Amino acid sequence: QAPVPVRHFLQFKDLSAEELGYLFERTQVIKTHFKQYQPHQTLHDRTLAMVFEKASTRTRVSFEAGMYQLGGSVIHLTTGDSQLGRSEPIEDTARVISRMVDIVMIRTYEQTKIERFASVSRVPVINGLTNEFHPCQILADIFTWIEHRGSIAGKTVAWVGDANNMLYTWLQAGELLGFKVNVSTPPGYAVDLAQAGLGDASHVATFDDPIDACRGADLITTDVWTSMGFEAENDERREAFADWCVDADMMAVAAPDALFMHCLPAHRGEEVTADVIDGPQSVVWDEAENRLHVQKALMEFLLLGKCD
Ligand code: CP
Ligand code: NVA
Repeated sequence: QAPVPVRHFLQFKDLSAEELGYLFERTQVIKTHFKQYQPHQTLHDRTLAMVFEKASTRTRVSFEAGMYQLGGSVIHLTTGDSQLGRSEPIEDTARVISRMVDIVMIRTYEQTKIERFASVSRVPVINGLTNEFHPCQILADIFTWIEHRGSIAGKTVAWVGDANNMLYTWLQAGELLGFKVNVSTPPGYAVDLAQAGLGDASHVATFDDPIDACRGADLITTDVWTSMGFEAENDERREAFADWCVDADMMAVAAPDALFMHCLPAHRGEEVTADVIDGPQSVVWDEAENRLHVQKALMEFLLLGKCD
């Protein structure tokens, strides 16, 4: 089999709309095999190295279980138990690891760090979350939307809360897949559209009042007020974000069949009330499960290209 050219998934827009369409269809096939206990071992003998510089539950379990289910194996590294914690340059780490494994997933701080790793990597690199983006989560979220509601094109997603890695990834997805993103963040925490790296921001609208962002929305989504790496700002953020809690009033002004999403982990009573996240419009457990299926499709695509 001819080698597939090295492709990375460092931000959402690294895949085209056409490739995303393929990926979501393939995810459905892979998920069906999983549910029916049918083996789907397309990555036999391949090895995934995972590098975590921040904590994780979902990303670790979904990538690790996913690679084993595809017939491959996994190596789990953290800053503390690798030479990364003792200042080995990221490029040297990348040169070494990528001569030994077939694919790498990294969760780290600055996006520039994963870009530096990828720039010298011989194998595909996947962003498992940086300060700027969380593209695997948005793959899972959009697949979840498709499962529940069909195409996301032309829909409106309302983002309430912090202008963080999740929001910036939603903004890229909106441009690629043709949906609108209504954004409401507190004063002092405005979205920086330049960070999203958009060609055109005509699909983005900003609102001072979160209720206005939610009016008529098809999907309401939020995330923690304090992301990993920003813990020192926790107290001031709690105060600033108090009115940016997704609650029943916000859900009430959205479309009657609106869904609620949250990448998790969640803080009930902060960014979302318990009645919303545990209520009938919430699909957060499907989102979490779909990390597994969509990342299996992603690893397969990056290593093998399109499969039938
Ligand atoms: N949503 C998400 O990435 O979760 P973890 O931090 O648990 O991996
Ligand atoms: N925005 C959060 C997402 C966690 C999955 C963070 O970066 O901590």
